[in-house]
Amino acid sequence: MEPLHPDKLPTHLAIIMDGNGRWAQQRMLKRIVGHQRGAETVKMVVEQASQLGIKYLTLFAFSSENWSRPPIEVRALMTLLKKYIRRETARMMRNNIRYNIIGNRSDLPEDVNQTLDEATLETAGNTGMVLTLALSYGGRQEISMAAARMARDMVAGKLSADDVTVDTFAEYLDTGGLPDPDFLIRTSGEMRISNFLLWQLAYTELYFTETNWPDFTINEFHKALADFQSRERRFGKTSDQITKRN
Ligand code: IPE
Ligand code: IPE
Ligand code: MG
Repeated sequence: MEPLHPDKLPTHLAIIMDGNGRWAQQRMLKRIVGHQRGAETVKMVVEQASQLGIKYLTLFAFSSENWSRPPIEVRALMTLLKKYIRRETARMMRNNIRYNIIGNRSDLPEDVNQTLDEATLETAGNTGMVLTLALSYGGRQEISMAAARMARDMVAGKLSADDVTVDTFAEYLDTGGLPDPDFLIRTSGEMRISNFLLWQLAYTELYFTETNWPDFTINEFHKALADFQSRERRFGKTSDQITKRN
C-alpha cells in the first residue's frame, strides 16, 4: 500500500460514488446488486477515512436528478439506504462518527427521513469524523435555496445586501459550518461533477479513476490519497510563494 503522510491528508474528502449499475450489468446482475456491493465499499471507505484521521467525509449517495430513474430502482435505493443506516449506526457510535445530511430532505420518503433523524440524533454527540450524506442533493438547487433563505432574512430585516459576502453566502448553504472539500474522488471513469457541491468545489483537487465503485479497494483508496499528497495547492499564488511559505 502507498505510504501516506498523516499530516498531509485532506481535511475534507468528498466522493462521487459512481459505477454501481455498470458493475452489475457487466456481470449480468441486476443494478440493485451493484448498489448492494457499493454499500460494502462505503463501509470500507468510512472506516478507513475515520481511522486515518480525516475529519470530514462527504458522500454523494443520491442526486436530485436520480429521482428520474425507474421507480423500482429509486425504491430499492431508498430501502438500501434505510437498511444501511440502521445496520451501521452502532459502528458509527464505536468509531465516534457523527452523521450529517445535506440535500432536499422534504423529497425523501417519510420512513427514510425518520431513520435519518434517529441516526443523526444518536450520533450527534460524537466528536470524531463528520460523515455527510448528500441525499436528494443538487448543487444548483442548494445554491438557489440559499439565495431564497437570504431573501427571506432580508425581508425580515435580519440581513442587508451589504452583508452578502462569500463567507456569509457559504453559511446559507446546506454545508454551512463545513470546510470546503480539499479532495474529490469520482469512480467509474466519468469526468464530470454531475451537480455535486458546485460552490464548495471551487478549489478542490479532483481525482478520477476508471474503477467502478463496488471494485474500489482499500489499495486504490490509499493510491488516491497518495496522489493528493503529491499535489501543490497554489490557490492562485506562484509555486515559489508556496514553497518559500510567504
Ligand atoms: C452510483 O452508481 C449510485 C447512484 C447514482 C445512486 P450508478 O447507479 O450511477 O451506476 P452507473 O453509473 O449506472 O454504472
Ligand atoms: C452522480 O452519479 C450521483 C451519485 C453518485 C449519487 P450519476 O450516475 O447520477 O451521474 P450522471 O448522471 O451519470 O452524471
Ligand atoms: Mg452513474
